[in-house]
Amino acid sequence: MKGADPVDLLSYLRLARRSWPVILLSLVLATAASFLVTARTPPTYAATVSMVVSAHDEGKTSTATAYQAALLSVQRVKSYAALLTSRKLAARVVSGDKEARRLAENITADVVPDTVILRATVTDRDPVRAAWLANAVGTQFTRLIGQIERPAPGDPATVKITLLDKAEVPSSPASPRPLVNLAIALFVALLLSSCAIAVRGIMDTAVTTVEELRGLADGPVLGVIGYEPDARRHPLIVRHEGRSSRAEAFRSLRTNLRFLNVDGAPRSLLVTSSLPGEGKTSVAANLAIAMAQTGWRVLLVDADLRRPSVPSYLGIEGAVGLTDVLLGDVDPADAVQSWGRPSLSVLPSGRIPPNPSELLGSQGMRGLMDRLTQKYDIVIIDTAPLLLVTDAAALAASSDAVLLVARYGKTRREYVTRAAELLASANARLAGTVLNFVPRKSGEVHYGYSEYQANVSEERAPLVGV
Ligand SMILES: Nc1ncnc2c1ncn2[C@@H]1O[C@H](COP(=O)(O)OP(=O)(O)O)[C@@H](O)[C@H]1O
Ligand SMILES: [Mg+2]
Repeated sequence: MKGADPVDLLSYLRLARRSWPVILLSLVLATAASFLVTARTPPTYAATVSMVVSAHDEGKTSTATAYQAALLSVQRVKSYAALLTSRKLAARVVSGDKEARRLAENITADVVPDTVILRATVTDRDPVRAAWLANAVGTQFTRLIGQIERPAPGDPATVKITLLDKAEVPSSPASPRPLVNLAIALFVALLLSSCAIAVRGIMDTAVTTVEELRGLADGPVLGVIGYEPDARRHPLIVRHEGRSSRAEAFRSLRTNLRFLNVDGAPRSLLVTSSLPGEGKTSVAANLAIAMAQTGWRVLLVDADLRRPSVPSYLGIEGAVGLTDVLLGDVDPADAVQSWGRPSLSVLPSGRIPPNPSELLGSQGMRGLMDRLTQKYDIVIIDTAPLLLVTDAAALAASSDAVLLVARYGKTRREYVTRAAELLASANARLAGTVLNFVPRKSGEVHYGYSEYQANVSEERAPLVGV
């Protein structure tokens, strides 16, 4: 198993790259949402008036009293800020309880840090009214403080508020702020989409790289088959006179298999995978064709007794086949059909028995395999999914080697591991794996090819002298 983090990071980056439509969509949605919010927010205007707090020392200008006066101003300024937003003050500016409450809510007050300057900001739907209200607040506040801070009626106030800057009519609304809305929306969209990608990365446990597959199955990746959009209609590589890249992929799989053991190639090769739809039949049939093209005597056996599909791939009749031979009803020579040019021999599944795994694991099957491998250069066996039924595991023991197919982006990593373990416990010899359905853009198609060359030089080297 691989444990290298860089590979994980790399696969995360690949995932992010594959997820760009999600990111783009979320950004577009966020932009639209921010425009909508901006358009639907009624504009409000803010006008600010600023005031200075000063304490009177009534002409006594000693340093001590000046200091005390300054201290008093600093102390007062904070409580004045609270007073600015009071309903009592608001009631002096507007008449009516409700209006006063609303105005009080629309006033914010703050102190310019480290100074005795107070600011009151009034927001309103109307810019002129906002300025008028702010100035009225300033004026009324000055008066209110004048009354509050008077030690006795008739005495001068000890603390005084002086208007510093009058509020001006604001030229642009304080809210909505389109750019701020847009920035927030884009930020949230990026955050959410990267979370989504991360979650997908955690959930996305499917095999997507050759290295991953090699580590999981603990065996070489012998073939990388690209995704073929046309495969459903034309599942075989016989078209285009075998010049397609798909045909090339099967040829290099064929070559890799030839390097597998000293005697040349395994005589019987079981093709299986963890689940249905990963390309067992398509790999088995195309590999058989690729091998037949070199002039070998190749037999393709349909041992998927759950969902036999070799006949439909090759367009042959599959009523009589393997099961009939195993039951002794038909002679192998009569059940095997010849297909295509150069000729490929095919043994269809035959009648579907009630106990496929028993039949496939039987002594009879083993004997049949022995006979067939003597007659043919290679017997390729298509099987049922390993993780669903025991058929393939039962058959594995009577085959020389097993080819495990995994589907790019679909076959889960743990399934590959489980399949490999199952094969090991059935004493099967895993020749290697095939990564099928690899998107052309993924880089793996080419990569797989170069890996094959590396394999040849590394694994072949000791055999050359044999
Ligand atoms: N490399 C590929 N690209 C596109 N489609 C494929 C590829 N390999 C197989 N298919 C299609 O996927 C489907 C399932 O493949 P099949 O070989 O029948 O899977 P299995 O035998 O594992 O159930 C078939 O329709 C087949 O044509
Ligand atoms: Mg199949």
